[in-house]
Amino acid sequence: MPKAQFPLLKMTKLVVATGNPGKLREMQTYLVDLGWELQLKPPELDIEETGETFSANACLKASEVAKATGEWAIADDSGLQVDALGGAPGIYSARYGKTDAQRIERLLRELGNEPNRGAQFVCVVAISRPDGAIAIFETGICRGEILHSPCGTGGFGYDPVFYLPEQQLTFAEMTVEMKRRYSHRGKAFEALLPHLGKLTF
Ligand code: IMP
Repeated sequence: MPKAQFPLLKMTKLVVATGNPGKLREMQTYLVDLGWELQLKPPELDIEETGETFSANACLKASEVAKATGEWAIADDSGLQVDALGGAPGIYSARYGKTDAQRIERLLRELGNEPNRGAQFVCVVAISRPDGAIAIFETGICRGEILHSPCGTGGFGYDPVFYLPEQQLTFAEMTVEMKRRYSHRGKAFEALLPHLGKLTF
C-alpha cells in the first residue's frame, strides 16, 4: 500500500477522537506510518452524537475534540445498516445494547429467520483543524451478509456476524491486513491518506 508523502516540516499532533478501543486499534494501525504524533482524546471529553448522519457525527466529534484540545483531531463515525431492518441499527449501532454480545444478540433476534441477510458497514472519517473547521472527510462502505450465529474471535463490535461471501470469512476471522483491505474503515482511510500530505497548517 503506498504511503502518503509528507514534507519534513509536517510532523504534527493529531488527537484521535474515539473512546472505542477496537476502533482506536484500527485507526492507530492506519496512521502509524504517517509521521503524525498521535494522542488520545482526554477520557473526560465525551461528545454527544447528536447528528442524524454518519458524516454529521464524524465531523461533530472531530470538530469538538479539536476545539477542546486546540489540536488537529481525527474522528470516525461508523455503523451497520441491515437491509431487512430498513437500515437499522445505522447511526445507533453503538447504542443498540450495552455490550458487543448484547448488540449482536439483539440484531440476530430482530432479524430472526429473515432470508434477506444483506447488510453494509459504513464509515465516515473526518479531520478537523484546531479551530474546529473540517479540513477533509471521506466515506468507506463494505457490503456483506449477517450470519445466523457469531463466527470468529478477532476484531470488535458486530465483526463475528458480518460475513463477506467472496472471502468466505467474517470480519472476526480476518487478519488485521485483510480487514484493512476490505472494511469500510480501511476504505475510508485509503481515500483519506493521499490528501493528508496536502493539508496546510
Ligand atoms: P460510533 O461510530 O462510535 O457511533 O460507533 C459505531 C458502532 O458501530 C461501534 O460501536 C460498533 O458497534 C459498530 N461498528 C463500527 N465499525 C465496526 C467494525 O469495524 N466492526 C464491528 N462493528 C463496528
